[in-house]
Amino acid sequence: MVKVMVDDKIIDRLEAAIDIEDRGYQFGDGVYEVIRIYDGVLFTGDEHLERFYSSAEKIQITVPFQKEELLGLILRLIQENRVKDGSLYMQLTRGASPRNHIFPGKDTKPVLTAYTKEVARPVESLENGVAALIADDIRWLRCDIKSLNLLPNLLAKQAATEQGCYEAILHRDGLVTEGSASNAYIVTDGKIKTHPATNLILNGITRQVVARLCEKNNIPFKQEAFTLDELQNADEIFVTSTTSEVMPVVKLAGKEVGDGKPGELTRKLQTLFVQEFESVKKAHTL
Ligand SMILES: Cc1ncc(COP(=O)(O)O)c(C=O)c1O
Repeated sequence: MVKVMVDDKIIDRLEAAIDIEDRGYQFGDGVYEVIRIYDGVLFTGDEHLERFYSSAEKIQITVPFQKEELLGLILRLIQENRVKDGSLYMQLTRGASPRNHIFPGKDTKPVLTAYTKEVARPVESLENGVAALIADDIRWLRCDIKSLNLLPNLLAKQAATEQGCYEAILHRDGLVTEGSASNAYIVTDGKIKTHPATNLILNGITRQVVARLCEKNNIPFKQEAFTLDELQNADEIFVTSTTSEVMPVVKLAGKEVGDGKPGELTRKLQTLFVQEFESVKKAHTL
């Protein structure tokens, strides 16, 4: 039987129960993380945990465990479920209390849940690239928080899917922010540009890895907002996320990007990214 985590207990999935008045369920009043597992090894776990604690703090929820303790729990869950290539989903809500917009008192305890699943790398899309459309960014002004409230993201992703696209690239008044579930980048004249890590985007962990890889390998990487015009005239476009990795966008709003194939710099970053998680795996098994 597959196991899940509820607070600090690892139990059978069918034994897990959530109160109908859990504020995550009623208001989306909570935060979450998705962490990649490669060959049983957690990738960038520390960075994800760091962001989880930071998101919780920004909405005034205290994570009921120290980081080391929480890390120990999720590692145990991964082990018990014998996850090979997959992901861990973890969320923290403000807890269960009679429905009221006002925060409940101190006696209401936050509820932490986590589960794992097998997820294959999207090798075909990584190899050939994907299509994207352009959509208005109608989200709130605290996109830096990994909040459970994802309706605008869901609407954008659904519209993309209905039009045969993998992702919706969002913009505010003509400035590109990010994807509905990813960070977005352009390559122009050998230089990469992505929106700075402000309140208008989620500072993706994959984005942080890409920034680090660019620095190490002398690849020009600028955190600067770019326009829709720049997007539409870019030599290359790619998006990044925990499950999409470095994903080439080869078609934008029905038009080919460059020659319609993943670009050279995108390919280089894909190679560097694979080397990065392979070295984490190797270091773990030594
Ligand atoms: C809106 C948004 N931006 C960016 C990302 C990428 O973040 P990460 O690389 O940490 O998965 C995600 C991931 O789900 C996301 O939902």
